[in-house]
Amino acid sequence: MKIKSLEIKGFAALAPMAGVADRAMREICMKHGAAFCVGELTSSRGITLGDKKSASLLYCGEKERPVASQIFGNDPEIMADAAKKTLEYRPDFIDINMGCPAPKVAGNGGGSALMKNPDLAESIVRAVVKAVNLPVTVKMRTGWDGEHINAPELAERCEAAGAAAITVHGRTRMQMYAPGIDYETIARVKRAVNIPVIANGDVKDGESARYMYSATGCDFLMIGRAAQGNPFVFEEINAALSGREYRRPTLEQRFEALFEQVSLMQKYKGEHIAMLESRKHTAWYLGGICGAAKLRRECGEITCFSDIRRICQKALEQNADM
Ligand SMILES: Cc1cc2nc3c(=O)[nH]c(=O)nc-3n(C[C@H](O)[C@H](O)[C@H](O)COP(=O)(O)O)c2cc1C
Repeated sequence: MKIKSLEIKGFAALAPMAGVADRAMREICMKHGAAFCVGELTSSRGITLGDKKSASLLYCGEKERPVASQIFGNDPEIMADAAKKTLEYRPDFIDINMGCPAPKVAGNGGGSALMKNPDLAESIVRAVVKAVNLPVTVKMRTGWDGEHINAPELAERCEAAGAAAITVHGRTRMQMYAPGIDYETIARVKRAVNIPVIANGDVKDGESARYMYSATGCDFLMIGRAAQGNPFVFEEINAALSGREYRRPTLEQRFEALFEQVSLMQKYKGEHIAMLESRKHTAWYLGGICGAAKLRRECGEITCFSDIRRICQKALEQNADM
């Protein structure tokens, strides 16, 4: 399956997750079978103003390809200019954010607020497509709220403006992350356009992946929270959808993945930030094990790599049967 000229292998992509799916996590997820990945949302204004923090989010490494840079904003010219500037960091495609519910994004008319303004959304896609010679994709929700479910119509307009694929998170902006996915609207998006549709929301294992495919007819899946502390979820989904048997990783294998991820964080972000951020990642890797609650509290105290090793060693001793 292709997204324009980009050959995509596999079934499920890693979702963009600000503050979580950094370069280290993206590399680990690609290593474990993610089909492609999308970088953390980055302000188009920040990029055009040369903000260093924005630039640091854009770097695309060779081991995380195909990878998109995701940009947000509310102005077609600034979005087009930002898209051009991201090329310096060599993304394989550009993703436009039309799903972020956060007030600092949607409150300024960007992210999910673009779903309330389809004319502006369409001109942004048109401007970005014109500005770069890369596939441009759009990630949206089902609509702003239950009374305004417009993803199928907006997806059609994005396609007409040149979008190469559409990701739909099966919730409205007002639902934020409330339980329940609107599979039917994702299916309607798939019927409305001829470009690939990527279905997103609550896919967490082989069974939910199969369900998302059959309920929506989508072309790819996108996985967010289920990949936190579990890059193996992509192997599980690939196995389930190819009819192959899947063997869960041992606890040792899980911790090896954690160590590798943290080493990459140290390399890309420096010791201090890597250690602070490794606290939440280590806690996620402890998911589903005996004694996790106490060990998770210890994660809040991590200041060096040996703290992480010590916590994992304790987890192994308490879970010798896993
Ligand atoms: C911590 C966090 C950060 C997120 N950041 C972004 C982002 O930068 N851009 C975006 O389009 N979506 C973002 N999302 C939404 C996810 O990409 C995804 O649509 C959502 O989590 C639903 O998928 P899931 O049920 O597989 O987690 C974020 C979600 C989480 C939990």
